[in-house]
Amino acid sequence: MPKKNFLSYIKDKYDTEFIYFDTFMEEALYSQLGFFNTDIVRSDKEGDFLTSPEVSKYFGKIIRNWINSKSNLKNIIEIGSGTGSLIEQIGIKEITAVELSSTARDELIKKGIKTYTTINELNTNTSDLIFGNEILDNIPCSIGLYRDECWYEKVVLLEDTSLSYELKPMRNEGLEWINKNNIVPNEDYEFEIQVNIDKFLNSVIKKINPKKILLFDYGYEQDNRDKRMYSSLLRTYKNHHLSVDPIEGSGNIDITYDVNFSSISRQLTTLGYKVTLKLQRDFLLDNGFNIFFDKLQHKYITAEGIEKLKINSELSGLKAIVDSNGLGGFYCLIAEKL
Ligand SMILES: C[S@@+](CC[C@H](N)C(=O)[O-])C[C@H]1O[C@@H](n2cnc3c(N)ncnc32)[C@H](O)[C@@H]1O
Repeated sequence: MPKKNFLSYIKDKYDTEFIYFDTFMEEALYSQLGFFNTDIVRSDKEGDFLTSPEVSKYFGKIIRNWINSKSNLKNIIEIGSGTGSLIEQIGIKEITAVELSSTARDELIKKGIKTYTTINELNTNTSDLIFGNEILDNIPCSIGLYRDECWYEKVVLLEDTSLSYELKPMRNEGLEWINKNNIVPNEDYEFEIQVNIDKFLNSVIKKINPKKILLFDYGYEQDNRDKRMYSSLLRTYKNHHLSVDPIEGSGNIDITYDVNFSSISRQLTTLGYKVTLKLQRDFLLDNGFNIFFDKLQHKYITAEGIEKLKINSELSGLKAIVDSNGLGGFYCLIAEKL
């Protein structure tokens, strides 16, 4: 069932027969009745999913090593900061957070982190580095399907007592995205159309023209799409488990999808950046993972009691963020302004 009132809220707001899936996803995640605006922060142990900084504090410490290896980065901004764990781990006081969720913003403010709701509200027009972990997969996508040699979009019908799906001809912006990214039609797939990620990156670059961009997320490179077993790469989460269809749980569940990193690389290259794509595992190994791991393992051997348990749990966290079958298999995108 959608969250109580979600259906009437959306019907009152739009007063139309249907809305496109990306509009639905925007409302289901970020409206007053949306998943990210509740009494709990979603991205922690008590929430609905765990992210690398929530699994291991060394994620931020290793990013700090990477920051230190660059010369004197100022005006650093994190987008989609969640609880602010990553900023705390990196340990640079002046990092500014941009976070859409009011629940998460309250946490960030409590931690004394300078926080804004949107990029456009920032009181600066420059940044040496903007970074984000698992934000792209929460930027609303639309859903494309190819049938009888034509592209369609899945739309959400606003019926009297429920929501359902229907197909409508694809909007021009979706068709342009498909052409630009050389997406090969396939009737067996649903395609997550990432027009809004492109718009988001355009607006970030227009507003603060960052010298460097560092993004982590789950996803794939286009040439490997066929290796994914699923016809749709969109999914939902609730209480750390996969959940129901998006329209069944509106407002109560996270809606997310595997990010097409080839498309993001293409967009950032067009906007004047040199892009490097690697696995999170490789980023961590390149930036001091083994030093932290070896030190901890050394301490573990001589530790006793509670201290030994604590170190063991830290070692497990470290292993999890580098595990190729889990968080280590995420992508890390580094873009540098040419
Ligand atoms: C999956 S959570 C990740 C939180 C945190 N980065 C972490 O790794 O734990 C995604 C966060 O991005 C925020 N978000 C999504 N779109 C955003 C946008 N356009 N601007 C700012 N924050 C956004 C969401 O509110 C949510 O808190």
